[in-house]
Amino acid sequence: MNTIILNGSPKGNSKNSNSKIFAEEFVRNMKNPCEIRCIANTNPKELARYIEDFDTIIIILPLYIHAMPGIVMKFIENIEPTTTKDKYIGFIIQAGFLETEQEKFVEAYFADLAKQLNYNYLGTVSKGQAAGTYMYPKMFKKVFKLLNDLGSAYEETHSFDKDIVKRLGQPYEISKFMLRILNLVDKVGLNNTLWHKELKKNNAFDKRLDKPFL
Ligand SMILES: Cc1cc2nc3c(=O)[nH]c(=O)nc-3n(C[C@H](O)[C@H](O)[C@H](O)COP(=O)(O)O)c2cc1C
Repeated sequence: MNTIILNGSPKGNSKNSNSKIFAEEFVRNMKNPCEIRCIANTNPKELARYIEDFDTIIIILPLYIHAMPGIVMKFIENIEPTTTKDKYIGFIIQAGFLETEQEKFVEAYFADLAKQLNYNYLGTVSKGQAAGTYMYPKMFKKVFKLLNDLGSAYEETHSFDKDIVKRLGQPYEISKFMLRILNLVDKVGLNNTLWHKELKKNNAFDKRLDKPFL
């Protein structure tokens, strides 16, 4: 099986792209690492033609406003349905929110898309709480190990290991206890610390409550 990995982040090959990091960790322990390409800054028609030489496509993407990036949508619209039975497609979503339940709508779309394209569906792996990956890589060692194992297992079995997928997908929902903690963190303002630092760095802190469209 020859597989191509597509990085669906609009940040493309930037070292700040968490999708890029996820893709690199996925192939890290493979005996024959898959090719990785970016969807950003690529002609979607040409890329759709290029992937026709591969049996399997795995798209690794972030969520932006609960949805896939527009460049991923545009690329998908250029994939031609296949008439063969041996094409496969799978997805790895990484996103900022803690709970992976929010991914269920995109996942349902991906499952349906595979049917429409006549591709076999490998499934969708979801990982929440991933926004800080490029900023704090040391805190993501366990996640990287899971991704390394997911990649090696994929190379051997041509499928996503169910146990690893389950572990990456935790928590699916926010527990009542966690919700209480989050509410407290919100009241104290701790959740804004990093965001406010960014605003100050960009001289935008005083404008944070502006409503330019009103
Ligand atoms: C404008 C914007 C919108 C975002 N919307 C969501 C969202 O709806 N849900 C979520 O879980 N994370 C959201 N995130 C966080 C990204 O999914 C997260 O930072 C991801 O790791 C970015 O991946 P990338 O670096 O590969 O682009 C958003 C981030 C930005 C900047």
